[in-house]
Amino acid sequence: MNIKTIKSEFPIFSNKVNGKTLVYLDSSNSSQKPKSVLNSLDNFYKNEFSNIGRSIHSLAVNATNKYEETRMSIKNFINASSKDEIVFTKNATESINLVATTFGQQNIQKGDEILITELEHHSNYVPWHYLRETRGAVIKFAPIDENGDIIIDKLKELITSKTKIISVTHVSNVTGTIVPIKDIVEIAHKRNIPVLVDGCQSAPHIKINVKDLDCDFYVISCHKVYGPTGVGILYAKKKWLEKLPPYIGGGGMISEVKKDKITYASVPEKYEAGTMPTAEVVAFNESIKFIQSIGIENIMKHEKEITDYALEKLKTINSVNIIGNPKNKAGVISFTLKGIHPHDISTIVDEEGVAIRAGHHCCQILHEKLGLAATARASIGIYNTKEDIDILCQSIEKCRKVFE
Ligand code: ALA
Repeated sequence: MNIKTIKSEFPIFSNKVNGKTLVYLDSSNSSQKPKSVLNSLDNFYKNEFSNIGRSIHSLAVNATNKYEETRMSIKNFINASSKDEIVFTKNATESINLVATTFGQQNIQKGDEILITELEHHSNYVPWHYLRETRGAVIKFAPIDENGDIIIDKLKELITSKTKIISVTHVSNVTGTIVPIKDIVEIAHKRNIPVLVDGCQSAPHIKINVKDLDCDFYVISCHKVYGPTGVGILYAKKKWLEKLPPYIGGGGMISEVKKDKITYASVPEKYEAGTMPTAEVVAFNESIKFIQSIGIENIMKHEKEITDYALEKLKTINSVNIIGNPKNKAGVISFTLKGIHPHDISTIVDEEGVAIRAGHHCCQILHEKLGLAATARASIGIYNTKEDIDILCQSIEKCRKVFE
């Protein structure tokens, strides 16, 4: 697929927003959907709909097969060892809650420590905070430096004999920091500590290889990967899925149910209770095919080019302050404009059809560290072009003039 024609694969870009061509720079929040994903949803509901894993009529068997095909595609996409290591959830948040709850139940006693970092968004803090409230866990935060990089030596120092798990983002949704996960996993595994990686901002922007990272858990939200809402992924090494207790109870996750005893299905079904978002999981396979048709290396190259261009151009605008300058950066650019509240920036650029996010981006702890209540954020996806960045910069200039 030609990178120049990619935008035309996304129907939303033929609509106007406030009478202007849409410039979508909020992909860290959620991405837009290509035609193939939308067509799959439509086709599945119109022509192929059935629940999965229960009935044995033709529609049900076809739906089950398609659902499992997506699991297999994800296994290959992230290089898991087996498709049994892929659990479908509602979103990455639910995936982290699943691990925090089940791991916590089995492994966290009063005074045990959970190590996260100052970069984490609320999805990778609040579920662990519950363990502080319910089991007396202690949460420690590995600090970042002034560039937005995690200080690895400090992270090391924070590990004690009570550290039970490390949970860390792969890419920051504020600074765009690409975290050296392999180094952290190596440090953790030397002490026998499992590592959860929050992949909300890495998929579909950088290559993910869970075997190479050697992490224990990896979570993804499919709506940020050009897929439908309502689907998340939990990758976990099979030993963990087999060892941890079930999470949500109900149909589909059991093997045998008696009045006095219940046995559970094998993994991954043990973690997929109730009717799953079938059409959405099936459609997500089209997202993966879409990404693969472009090639993750080409995506990384394109997004880096757009990010570098955006950074250069933004720096030329008087009074723009870019947040963080990490060693390795993905396409997430948070910034402030002297004397103008980020909500005002967002509202004014929106008049020009430019969609950015303003606020704390679900990262209040990081914003507190930065000494800011809010920032504006432009985040880049495969459909963004240099023209988009030009329009963003022109609309920021307009914003400055409004407040002059
Ligand atoms: N979805 C949140 C964001 O916009 C976390 O980064």
